[in-house]
Amino acid sequence: MSLISQGNLRRDSLKDDVAVVTGAGRGIGYETARALMWLGAKVVIADVDGKSGRAAAENLNKEFGSEKALFVKTDVGNEKEVEALAGQVVAKWKKVDIVINNATAFPVGAVKDAPIDVWDLSYRVHLRGSVLLAKTLLPDMIKRKHGVFVFVSSSLAFPFMGAHSVLKTAQVELAKTIAAEVEDTGVYVLSIDPGVVKTPGFLESNKQVAALTRLTLKQLLAMNKQVEISAEAAGVGIAGAVTLASRYHGQETTSLQVLQAVGIQIGVESEKPKTKVTNVEPALAVFQSVLKTYSKQVEGWRSCNLFRRQWLAREFKRSTGLSMDEMYNTLVTLGKCLEMKTSVNEFVEPLKKLAEYYKYQQELLRGLAKFSKKTAEDLQMIEGWLLEVNSLLKAIST
Ligand SMILES: NC(=O)c1ccc[n+]([C@@H]2O[C@H](COP(=O)([O-])OP(=O)(O)OC[C@H]3O[C@@H](n4cnc5c(N)ncnc54)[C@H](O)[C@@H]3O)[C@@H](O)[C@H]2O)c1
Repeated sequence: MSLISQGNLRRDSLKDDVAVVTGAGRGIGYETARALMWLGAKVVIADVDGKSGRAAAENLNKEFGSEKALFVKTDVGNEKEVEALAGQVVAKWKKVDIVINNATAFPVGAVKDAPIDVWDLSYRVHLRGSVLLAKTLLPDMIKRKHGVFVFVSSSLAFPFMGAHSVLKTAQVELAKTIAAEVEDTGVYVLSIDPGVVKTPGFLESNKQVAALTRLTLKQLLAMNKQVEISAEAAGVGIAGAVTLASRYHGQETTSLQVLQAVGIQIGVESEKPKTKVTNVEPALAVFQSVLKTYSKQVEGWRSCNLFRRQWLAREFKRSTGLSMDEMYNTLVTLGKCLEMKTSVNEFVEPLKKLAEYYKYQQELLRGLAKFSKKTAEDLQMIEGWLLEVNSLLKAIST
């Protein structure tokens, strides 16, 4: 388990916790279970496939030299089986603290052609299953004021994979709904997109998608090269998110973003440097102002109530293409590149997006707020932020 040990995650941080990971017989679920065990948790592999589920638990117990992995054959869409799962885990380990909704089915086909049954199957695995787990396991977590409920998500719908991806996007909304309902109970709910991972399910479905398009499987996979990560990295990201659950409560994050937050750098190669900033001092000075302003805004956003926070986070991502945390990490990396005098080309686009977001905020204010002294002051303040970002853009472009 080399990757997880590279960051600042502590080996015993989940030592008192019991985690249920659905669909952990293989792929991302297996690697998530593995990372959770590294962090000290007891792990239940809840998979509908008996063979891979049993093998997964055996392998994990062998790797960690313990009996802390348990396999319980479970179809998450079956109410009786979910109740039996909870009963078996509570009988053995008394409680469940962490649930990772990871089980998935990858039906393929255009909406006009795919049999209606595949939509029913996807609903069963992705929504009915997660709701059953929430109904069965959340009440005790709330009672004990301790728990993390995670959805392994995918926030975009894809052609020829509608039955899978539309229900996956619904899971993200389900996560936000539950998050708002358990606000301030000590239970945290979040969704996390693992990134593109060549798991058995992903490869099989992509082979079928390729056959329905004019692309070969190789061409289809090449389109994702930039964002592809290993199953191990995806799983460590998901386990890392559990340790930072209060920070991501009510939000959708990504494995890459969490890896960065826990100090694990994995290489998605960026383009070779083209231009470097020659006059670094003025650029660094204006950079410090932009970072300070942005950090203050993030603090302000964090202190809003969950409903407003979710709305602001969604608007920010829609406008800039990045989450607020991703923008923060991007700015911090820009600062490091300036200090090290390396290329800063890749930061021009995110900064332009940030400027556009500020302009959009001004438009919103002009369109929504009645004119008053306060509105004028707010508009002036945003104008100042805009000026800072534009000066930084100028400084790193010369
Ligand atoms: N692989 C990717 O690129 C990718 C991208 C974005 C999101 N995701 C998400 O990551 C998660 C894991 O995906 P993966 O690629 O590892 O999938 P996979 O197909 O390799 O593994 C899925 C597992 O779920 C189990 N499963 C299926 N139906 C079940 C049921 N009814 N009850 C219990 N278990 C069931 C399967 O037996 C299997 O072990 C999924 O939620 C998926 O949507 C994956």
